[in-house]
Amino acid sequence: MRIAIVSGTVFGTAEEVAWRASELLAEAGLDVTFRPHWQLSELLEHDPEAVLFVTSTTGMGELPEKLQPLVSGLEQQLPDWAGRPAGIIGLGDGGYGDNFCLSVDELEALYELLGLVMLQDSLRLDASETVTHVEDAVPWINEFTALLQAWHA
Ligand SMILES: Cc1cc2nc3c(=O)[nH]c(=O)nc-3n(C[C@H](O)[C@H](O)[C@H](O)COP(=O)(O)O)c2cc1C
Repeated sequence: MRIAIVSGTVFGTAEEVAWRASELLAEAGLDVTFRPHWQLSELLEHDPEAVLFVTSTTGMGELPEKLQPLVSGLEQQLPDWAGRPAGIIGLGDGGYGDNFCLSVDELEALYELLGLVMLQDSLRLDASETVTHVEDAVPWINEFTALLQAWHA
């Protein structure tokens, strides 16, 4: 099963979490590809059988600027990924109130549009409560790994 990991970051934390996810999935024997900057054409050509987005929220509840073209491209192209398993890890800050982790909501809407199947609830990491994002994400990533393996079996 080809798994693609996509990340969106401003200060690099989401990318660190994405690297850790890619290490853990690979250690579990899964075929995972993480690129910090996927072009839409590369991702479509890769034709992932499972997808994991790891992204922070910035501005007033927006996706990081570098991730926006990829997400808009997917919304427009609507690749036939229906029924494929997927997950989302979001990084945000509870101090932003109603805008907390809004990128996750935006990606959940994209997943719904594409018919991707959420394997578990999205993880929302709150920078007002933790500075150890990578460590905190590990249990969620392990669960994601187990669910992917069960899906694959
Ligand atoms: C200018 C700025 C705007 C932000 N806006 C939001 C926001 O709207 N919602 C939110 O949940 N977090 C917001 N954050 C918090 C970041 O998402 C959080 O610190 C995250 O851990 C950063 O991850 P990164 O290093 O991958 O960019 C903002 C941070 C900055 C500096």
